[in-house]
Amino acid sequence: MEHAADIARAADALKDGGLVILPTETVYGLAADAANPRAVAAVYEAKGRPAFNPLIAHVADVAAARRIAKFDLRADELTAAFWPGPLTLVLPIADETAVCDLARAGLDTVAIRAPAHPIAHALLEALGGPLVAPSANRSGRPSPTTFADAWEETGAAATFGLDGGACAIGLESTVIALLDKPRLLRPGAVTRAELEALIGPLFDAEADAKRSPGRLARHYAPNLPVRLDADEPRADEVWLGFGRCGGAAFNLSPDGDLVEAAANLFAYLRAADRSEGATGIAVAPIPDTGLGEAINDRLRRAAGFVG
Ligand code: TXA
Ligand code: MG
Repeated sequence: MEHAADIARAADALKDGGLVILPTETVYGLAADAANPRAVAAVYEAKGRPAFNPLIAHVADVAAARRIAKFDLRADELTAAFWPGPLTLVLPIADETAVCDLARAGLDTVAIRAPAHPIAHALLEALGGPLVAPSANRSGRPSPTTFADAWEETGAAATFGLDGGACAIGLESTVIALLDKPRLLRPGAVTRAELEALIGPLFDAEADAKRSPGRLARHYAPNLPVRLDADEPRADEVWLGFGRCGGAAFNLSPDGDLVEAAANLFAYLRAADRSEGATGIAVAPIPDTGLGEAINDRLRRAAGFVG
């Protein structure tokens, strides 16, 4: 694609209050100017998303993040280690923040991340200000990990789309709140062990649940019912395997590689969901170590269990 020209076109669309389909290293986002409440409202509308669910402000770097939120030592350490990359921090808002109330769902906190994808980074640099970019799916559907899936989900609401190929990670960013005790709100590609090595034990999200309304059951749900930890499929179930699973229609990673499984997860859930004649999706057991925590979190949501 004509890179620089497309970035400029996307930046212009965003400045005019338009929405843009944006590739990131995690999943595709539906981006809008975080300072423009009308544009942010259009994002909620396109996703069919409850307005109480706050959005992540995406920034080019730490300097831009500091203009929006109050950093502490833990935020300094984590951003030095993992930015740009798949880690979102929830922090108190700065005294003057560019991220509008609607984007924060009225909270006095803000979720921020600096994406590593070169196209997302170039667009943020071109724009200067923060972009909200929730996953580009309609609410309650799996996050899109290819441009085609993103366009099918919310392209109708977008002025422009940037095709950055398949997302390298395939799962949404890890979300950690640094308000009092550090709390893991959403597991992701930056693992619990990696975070705890830097800032010590992470606490549960439960006590803080109101601050993370995105942790809803059936947040990532296909249309077909999903059955987890299945050693084999029942008649009429489509089989989503992991590791050595003879006869699986889809295998997240025949070699049992969790990184590969994460990258394939949403695209394979979508494909399995389209299987002709199937009455359900049976998913093989996935180990809960490392990236497996995030994969199992998304699978429990797809199956309709509260996380
Ligand atoms: O990987 C990602 O993070 C992707 C890509 C496109 O960057 N974006 C994404 O955004 O997943 P979204 O809007 O689908 O998920 C944002 C999550 C939700 O679970 C939301 O509840 C939580 O972050 N969140 C946002 N602001 C928050 C806040 N102030 N306090 C607690 N949780 C917050
Ligand atoms: Mg989402």
